[in-house]
Amino acid sequence: MKPPYGDVEKLVFGRTFAEHMFKMKYSEGRGWHDAKIEKYGSFTMDPASCVLHYSQEIFEGLKAYKALNGKMLLFRPEQNARRLNRSARKLCMPEIPEEDFVNAVKELVLLDKEWIPDAPGTSLYVRPTMIASEAFLGVHPSKEYLFYIIMSPVGPYFKEGFNTVSIYVEDQLVRAAVGGVGDIKTGGNYAASLLGAMKAEEKGFSQVLWLDAKEHKYVEEVGAMNVFFVFGDKVVTPQLTGSILPGITRNSVIALAKDMGYEVEERRISIDEVLDGIKSKELTEIFGSGTAAIISPVGLFHYKDNNYYINDNKVGSITRAFYERLVGIQYGKIEDTMGWSYELK
Ligand SMILES: Cc1ncc(COP(=O)(O)O)c(C=O)c1O
Repeated sequence: MKPPYGDVEKLVFGRTFAEHMFKMKYSEGRGWHDAKIEKYGSFTMDPASCVLHYSQEIFEGLKAYKALNGKMLLFRPEQNARRLNRSARKLCMPEIPEEDFVNAVKELVLLDKEWIPDAPGTSLYVRPTMIASEAFLGVHPSKEYLFYIIMSPVGPYFKEGFNTVSIYVEDQLVRAAVGGVGDIKTGGNYAASLLGAMKAEEKGFSQVLWLDAKEHKYVEEVGAMNVFFVFGDKVVTPQLTGSILPGITRNSVIALAKDMGYEVEERRISIDEVLDGIKSKELTEIFGSGTAAIISPVGLFHYKDNNYYINDNKVGSITRAFYERLVGIQYGKIEDTMGWSYELK
């Protein structure tokens, strides 16, 4: 029988949605209430809803995987629950008990389990979202919220698949500054990144690498990924300065790197150090990490009109090893020695 999402080969990231969605309301004094699962569909909103004017909105992204043995797995969902609550605190929004968050994801995925594709590299992307729904104009926290979860069966995030991507290093525009909200998952950060992303796309690059807001000197992160640099046996990633997202994949890669015997450094890394490393070949591999992008090898940095090729634009062996270990755990292909898989049953 044909799966409900149609031809798996034709899935474009985030364009097809599963049959159901989870919804829950919040109001001051009453707390979270009216949790329910219903058919995916439009909902009405007052045009004065706070989120539409002042962007009081947060979201998360995680995936459900179909393992070879038919099991259905989530990857560290409690980390998404925790990060959503961190985001909520920073934007004066109500927290959701971690257990309730994970249970909502679980119930929804189990109901729509036939929407989890099983072809290699595919999964069901889960998007929990919280928006400020009170209708008023004025800059203060909403007293009403809507939390909902939608899901989308997905193939690879990049059209390149597990191949090198080329990255435009943005040296003018800024995505987020220390003291702001770059370290949480809120829509405004992504709106602020669109112009840079368009600029990169027009020049033929698939992603943007952002530099720090103050000096335009230190590497921050890529559009929807954290970034890692391999110097021989040493793996370096920008430290969490407060303006980059603490990625769950980033955290997992750091743990895997240590487990695999690599030295790991979380520190400031300047674009000059990166370019010098590429030129001297001491920097042997670069890759991005993220739920959507998984592990994404980088073959080229474009900075100030110059192209810098990394590892001859080929996928490096360490990048591949991280990819295989991570994907192996996510799809239940190898033993989950880290205790990260959450079985849905
Ligand atoms: C800006 C940004 N950085 C990093 C990441 C990677 O985070 P995670 O590994 O939790 O998906 C994402 C994707 O969610 C992101 O949007």
